[in-house]
Amino acid sequence: MKRPQLKPGIHAVGAIDWDRRLFDSLIPLPDGTSYNSYLVRGSQKTALIDTVDPAMDTVLTGNLDDLKVDNIDFIICNHAEQDHAGSIPLILDLYPGSKVVCTPKCKGMLMDLLHLDEGLITTVNDGDSLSLGDRTFEFIHAPWVHWPETMVSYLKEDKVLFSCDFFGSHLAQSALYVQDEGQVYESAKRYFGEIMMPFRTNIKKNMERLKGYAIDVIAPSHGPVYDRPEFILESYRHWVYDEPANMVLLPYVSMHGSTKDMVDYMVGALVERGMNVRQFDLTVADPGKLAIALVDSATLVLATCTVLGGAHPLAANVAFLANALRPNLKYATIIGSFGWGQRTIEQITGMLTNIKPEVLPPVYIKGSPTENDFAALDALAESIAQKHRENGYK
Ligand code: FEO
Repeated sequence: MKRPQLKPGIHAVGAIDWDRRLFDSLIPLPDGTSYNSYLVRGSQKTALIDTVDPAMDTVLTGNLDDLKVDNIDFIICNHAEQDHAGSIPLILDLYPGSKVVCTPKCKGMLMDLLHLDEGLITTVNDGDSLSLGDRTFEFIHAPWVHWPETMVSYLKEDKVLFSCDFFGSHLAQSALYVQDEGQVYESAKRYFGEIMMPFRTNIKKNMERLKGYAIDVIAPSHGPVYDRPEFILESYRHWVYDEPANMVLLPYVSMHGSTKDMVDYMVGALVERGMNVRQFDLTVADPGKLAIALVDSATLVLATCTVLGGAHPLAANVAFLANALRPNLKYATIIGSFGWGQRTIEQITGMLTNIKPEVLPPVYIKGSPTENDFAALDALAESIAQKHRENGYK
């Protein structure tokens, strides 16, 4: 198959994984993903930027064969994680004489993870250049997007930024460039929520750093290439800089209907007071959709029944995930019903140690809800609305 080119001599040689449905053994991939790798030919040297997940290494080598590549001088490794670096050993075998180029921190990780020979790795400092003859890379260290060793590679003459995971999306598509910005927005936001959100502070620094570069194209290592970089840059600006929206995330789990009755009432009470609500049934919820909602939500109302005296495991899982993803949540509370005893509130609030939201008084009741309980939910909804108003959340 003829490989698409970003520009003359810059070829996409990675793999589209249409059928993958789970990443990190955790996150659903409703639209598959891709492992993008790029071959850059200069007048004197040739570089390969990142490789692919080893499960699809034959796609990469087949693409290189199609292009009749008989020599690779540099394998630029922006990130050591195996979905990009995992096929480096194979490429080194097939193209002896090639050198791996990466950050000093990445070098150690490649040796640990892939057992690469130290002598095959050349490290580059922040701002270093690498000439291919008529083309020049500048390496920009960009730590914590999303591992400590990450960098991005800027091809100066072509104004192409090879960003690896940074700005990526889990989306399989046959076209090289973004076709439908709405679809990519959702995929990129899912990716941001799951992978990048915990490192928002570092991402801000890296975004500031990139302001100094003229960028025509952003070529990530997951999902389509951006020929309108402002689309994804602007999206990232919203996700990392904006205050949360006037939105309540309401995941719930209910066994016999009491907690669900409270959820139904609470959703109405919140909506009546002008807030947007994202409600998720945790028995079927996609954790990626939860992550997307966490990017914007100001408040978490976690609704859970009690199992064996404590939180339902599905609710505990949400608290654990939210705490790990470090969203910009400002407020949290718990609603639900218990039968004969409960440690739910202390369990859930004790799991939010990273994000430390202000915990609003829970409405956690014995048995099925009464009129008094619904009135308490109204009061809770009113206090959330007041907090949102005070902060000017829109
Ligand atoms: Fe796509 Fe962090 O690997």
